[in-house]
Order: sequence, then structure tokens, then C-alpha cells
Amino acid sequence: MKNDPAKEYNNMSEAYILKSEKQVHYVYYDRPAIKSLTFEVKDKTILEVGCAGGALTEWLVDQRAKIIAIDISEKMIEYTKKRLGSKAKVFVADVSKPLDFVETDSIDVIIASLVLHYISNWLPVFDEFHRVLRNNGSIIISTHHPHADWKWHNRPNYFKKELYEETWTINGKPYTFKYYHRALANMLAIFRRAGFFVDILLEPLPVPERRKFLQNLMKI
Ligand SMILES: C[S@@+](CC[C@H](N)C(=O)[O-])C[C@H]1O[C@@H](n2cnc3c(N)ncnc32)[C@H](O)[C@@H]1O
Repeated sequence: MKNDPAKEYNNMSEAYILKSEKQVHYVYYDRPAIKSLTFEVKDKTILEVGCAGGALTEWLVDQRAKIIAIDISEKMIEYTKKRLGSKAKVFVADVSKPLDFVETDSIDVIIASLVLHYISNWLPVFDEFHRVLRNNGSIIISTHHPHADWKWHNRPNYFKKELYEETWTINGKPYTFKYYHRALANMLAIFRRAGFFVDILLEPLPVPERRKFLQNLMKI
């Protein structure tokens, strides 16, 4: 089994964007958590990795940050370019390869929301993050909770890095994609090897608006 996120996300780009603009996990859980960790970004240079359709990118632009946004999927990048025009620098790029188009010591904050689990080997990625970040730069990451992944897939060994496969049904059509599970201790070891330390580890709760959203959904 092999993962191919470019193919998988190109294939479901339109459906994914529609889903992720409204879906509870993104709108009331992941993105508010990322925003809460972003603090003051006005005039800061941000590298956003895995920007998908640009929902978070647009928010960052609204905060007056200077944005370089990348995604491995050409289709996703098309959407983000349409959405933001010249307000952000938006490129097709694979974060598991060297980011030669980003200057050394040029980035204040890297944001990688729900993307790193598509990558097998994290160490070169974090070494590259270290290269492009300025002194005192920071990285904000969200990824699947490894314990939740492991329980959901009912696998025998939590500590084994493994490719898991999932199918999402969006508007009645199934989309299959694969991602890597890795133990939390493995993630932390990689951060440390690459020269980072963890400042905040957030296990976010959904924001209160989620309750209202679900109550409205239940209304007949
Ligand atoms: C779950 S979506 C990210 C959601 C997005 N951050 C948001 O808030 O809407 C994952 C994205 O990561 C991208 N991706 C996967 N592997 C990648 C890689 N190696 N380099 C860059 N982007 C990648 C996919 O194409 C997809 O658009």
C-alpha cells in the first residue's frame, strides 16, 4: 500500500473544499484551535503548508500577515489562487522535498494544519522548517490524535508507524485516502532532533458555536 496525497486530493478537491468550509471538525474544532495559537501575526511572514482550498490562508491574509501558502495538489492550489489573487504567494510544492524557493531565516511562523500525517519521514521536513525559520520562529501544527487514529483503526501496535486507509463519503461519493499513524513520543523525538521544543500541546475542545450548529441541524 502506498499513499499519493496529490492524486487523492486532486481527485476530491471540489468535494473536500465544500465539506471543509462547513464541516464541524474544521470550522468549530481544528481551525479555531490553530487560530488560538497564532497570536499576533500582523506583518509576520508565514509559511502555510497544506493550505488546501485556502480557508485558513484567507483568515491569515485578513490578519495582515504576509503569506506563502503551499500544497501538493494542483487543484487545491488553483482554488486558493482564485480565492486570494495577489493577496498571498501560493505555490504547488511538496513539503517532503527541500523548499528551495523559501529563503533561509526568512519565516516567522510555519502553520501546518492537518497535513503532516500524509508524510512518512518527518525529520527532513523539520530540518527544512528549521532552516527557513528565523531565530525564535515557531511552528503551529495540527494532526490527528494518534491514540484516536489507532483506536479507530483497531490496530495491534500503537507504537508502529503505519499507513492507515480511510474512506470518506462526500455527497454520496466515496473517496479513499491514506495517512501515517505515528506515536506521540515519536513526534516529540523528531521535534527535539530537529532543534525544536514544544511550548503548547493543545487537545482542543470544540468551540461553543458547535453546539448551536448541531442544535440547528437537529431542528426539523
Ligand atoms: C486535510 S487538508 C488540510 C486542511 C487545511 N489546512 C485547511 O485548514 O483547510 C490536507 C492538505 O494537505 C495537502 N498535502 C498532503 N501532502 C502534502 C505534501 N507532502 N506537501 C504539501 N501539501 C500536502 C493535501 O493536498 C491537502 O490539501
